[in-house]
Amino acid sequence: MCGIVGYIGNEDAKEILLKGLEKLEYRGYDSAGIAVVNKEGVHIYKEKGRIASLRNVVDESTEATAGIGHTRWATHGPPSKRNAHPHQSTSSRFTIVHNGVIENYEQLKREYLEDVTFTSDTDTEVIVQLVEQFMKEDQSVEAAFRKVLSLLKGSYATALLDEQEPEKIYVGKNKSPLLVGIGDGVNVIASDAMAMLQVTNQFVELMDKEVVIVTRDAVTIKSIDGQTVERDHFVAELDASDIEKGTYPHFMLKEIDEQPFVIRNIISKYQDDNGQIILDEDIRATLKEADRLYIIAAGTSYHAGLMGKQLIETISGKPVEVHIASEFLYNMPLLSEKPLFIFISQSGETADSRGVLVDIKEKGYPALTITNVPGSTLSREADFTLHTHAGPEIAVASTKAYTAQMAVLAILACDLANAKGITVDFDPIQELSIVANAMETLCDKKETFEKIARDYLSITRNCFFIGRAADYYVCLEGALKLKEISYIQAEGFAGGELKHGTIALIEDGTPVIALATQDHVNLSIRGNVKEVAARGAATCIISMGDCAQEDDQFVIPPVHKHLSALATVIPLQLISYYAALHRDCDVDKPRNLAKSVTVE
Ligand code: M6R
Repeated sequence: MCGIVGYIGNEDAKEILLKGLEKLEYRGYDSAGIAVVNKEGVHIYKEKGRIASLRNVVDESTEATAGIGHTRWATHGPPSKRNAHPHQSTSSRFTIVHNGVIENYEQLKREYLEDVTFTSDTDTEVIVQLVEQFMKEDQSVEAAFRKVLSLLKGSYATALLDEQEPEKIYVGKNKSPLLVGIGDGVNVIASDAMAMLQVTNQFVELMDKEVVIVTRDAVTIKSIDGQTVERDHFVAELDASDIEKGTYPHFMLKEIDEQPFVIRNIISKYQDDNGQIILDEDIRATLKEADRLYIIAAGTSYHAGLMGKQLIETISGKPVEVHIASEFLYNMPLLSEKPLFIFISQSGETADSRGVLVDIKEKGYPALTITNVPGSTLSREADFTLHTHAGPEIAVASTKAYTAQMAVLAILACDLANAKGITVDFDPIQELSIVANAMETLCDKKETFEKIARDYLSITRNCFFIGRAADYYVCLEGALKLKEISYIQAEGFAGGELKHGTIALIEDGTPVIALATQDHVNLSIRGNVKEVAARGAATCIISMGDCAQEDDQFVIPPVHKHLSALATVIPLQLISYYAALHRDCDVDKPRNLAKSVTVE
């Protein structure tokens, strides 16, 4: 959460920083700011709200070719101009931006900064005030900065400007992502390569507790105790068009439409010329050896994990548990003798999942990360990574990452069965290509889902999704999608569980969207629909293939029962999208949220 950028080169730093922040806005968007430095000193512009609001307050006439910027998701102190970054030390000599959480900031204030008057409610301000404090000990800025970083507990990606050295940016990182971009006579920093593709596609990854001094012509990486570190750069394989909306009004709609291509891309990455599944032999062996798999994830990725459990247990017979990352350490189950932990995360940065990863690595257990961002923290710190190949997902509401995760889990389940010598009557590659075609058909039916959203969700304050078996898991995801972008209170429910309490909430006109795509529960879910209809609910049935009945509102083209969720979720994604649109909500950047949840 929060995004930072930095630039030092020969062009107008303000514009490059603002454009970079626009690309990072998915990481947090309640306030933003930039600081540019020239011979006259540091000029700070900040504002509550989006980058668009920040643009309005930036003085166009300020000439500067170096600076830093920040887009915020509030943790310490409410969203406001006062708490927006950059923050300055009391003398204004030092200016800082920071992504992360300094857990011991209050203790540091008490120990070192009792006489300092703070001008924000943030944890961040402690860093910049400490640098100024330690400079009084007559040391170099670099030494003071390193000393401060060595005292910090928690996470940070941070960049510091010194008014007296306008040709340098000091950078530090621990647990929060940060890259340095290398150009010709220009160098940059960014929380995500996307932000600085406008300048370069060559980046150097930073490791925790490293300090970097960035000038126009050099990037010097050091360990926290001052030893120089050499590291090669890598080329970011990102196409600038991947991170543009193109002709789409919203990233979410673009990403929903991309799902058939994503599934075909996964097929091409996980299948060799002989039609065999491509999987790292070490991953194969570790999966086979484990006596139980523990899937750890949050939000939508947790919902993909629920499907993963069903796929892996049904297809390969390997026992699986799925756990919400933020609860795992506090409600830890009894572990089996040879557990393998599987972390599912679009961003690969989710702090709750990382907390579990750190804990289980300390205990010596193996870990596999399934992520859309190889090179992310969860990917680097796990023993193995499987890439979901969905391309950058920008909208806060996850769509293509979810279906990609389930596709990779289906392939993994079959490979595991093959490795165990189990004959599987299910060819994941062939069935996934049928899914891709069905997805295309569904994406072509936007008017239908737009109408369902208008008819059922325009004025309601709540909505229920009901289903059984795999449909139940899709209902959980449908409800999350709807509530996060339209703010309609939505719940996903197991059809049979309604009568144990929740049915009390059904009133005249309460929308209930029922999924009926599973043959073995078709009659029972339809019974549950009748129960809510008898109590006044406005019911909408979405069925599939042979499960369809005459009055169903929509029938999904048939796909293999193991993969039904990949198709079934698309109507729910589109209904949520149109419901949010009809209610004038900010679809891509819903309130209070951020794409990458890097605080616990
Ligand atoms: O990056 P991750 O997959 O680890 O993120 C987990 C959740 O924060 C994420 O899925 C969230 O629930 C989405 N906004 C849902 O659309």
